[in-house]
Amino acid sequence: MDRWVLLIGPRTYLVDRKMKKFSTDLGTIDLGKIKKYGQKIKTKKATFVALKPTISDVLRASKRMPQVVLPRDAASIIAETGASRGWKCLDAGGGSGFLTMFVANIVRPGKVYCYEKNEKFYKNIKKNIERSGLKNIVLKNEDARKFRERDLNLITLDMIGVEELVEKCYRRLAHGGWLAVYSPHVEQVKAVREHMDKFCCVKTIENTTRVWKVGTHTHPVPSGIMHTGFITFGRRL
Ligand SMILES: C[S@@+](CC[C@H](N)C(=O)[O-])C[C@H]1O[C@@H](n2cnc3c(N)ncnc32)[C@H](O)[C@@H]1O
Repeated sequence: MDRWVLLIGPRTYLVDRKMKKFSTDLGTIDLGKIKKYGQKIKTKKATFVALKPTISDVLRASKRMPQVVLPRDAASIIAETGASRGWKCLDAGGGSGFLTMFVANIVRPGKVYCYEKNEKFYKNIKKNIERSGLKNIVLKNEDARKFRERDLNLITLDMIGVEELVEKCYRRLAHGGWLAVYSPHVEQVKAVREHMDKFCCVKTIENTTRVWKVGTHTHPVPSGIMHTGFITFGRRL
């Protein structure tokens, strides 16, 4: 079994088995008694099932500092580019490390080089990565504008001023490599697209997801996150 285990009962917890015991308002869980996934563990007030966490479980439990790229947008980046096992990738800025970890999980044992210039955010990303168990992330507390990697299969950018980096990204991509830029505002999309003349397959998308309440009166849940950001893609020939 891995170090981290997902406990699902009346509530869900991602816990470190090194802790030995885990206290909740529903009673204490003796983590030493968990021997296999699927095992039931009882406390005084509840029953939990131990499961192997997926990357999505880890991300749900990870600490967010700057605004993160949500799974629907991260999934689009993977789907559009076809990112897969063995790819060499770069992500900037790291933020809370969410997009970095999502991509790293798909491309492992390929690597993701993650640049985050803010030290506080860098330290939080480091902790989030440790908890994920991913070993294929090279995290750097540096300015992404000075990145040194070459022959990259995928570059993902989510930070202010990315338009300055687009031409460098083109040169540092492998042939057929992809750039995916995440931008919350249309003005940022326009600024990025002005620098994308050399790229092929350029397109900008927005994802929306509606969650439905299903019952006697079935309808979309009236609140939720509608706009997240735009993603602009381009490919090096
Ligand atoms: C919106 S957050 C990125 C969130 C990230 N995509 C995620 O999913 O967790 C933007 C980050 O870019 C960082 N940043 C801004 N300019 C940077 C630069 N030149 N080099 C490295 N990081 C930078 C900021 O400190 C911030 O943490």
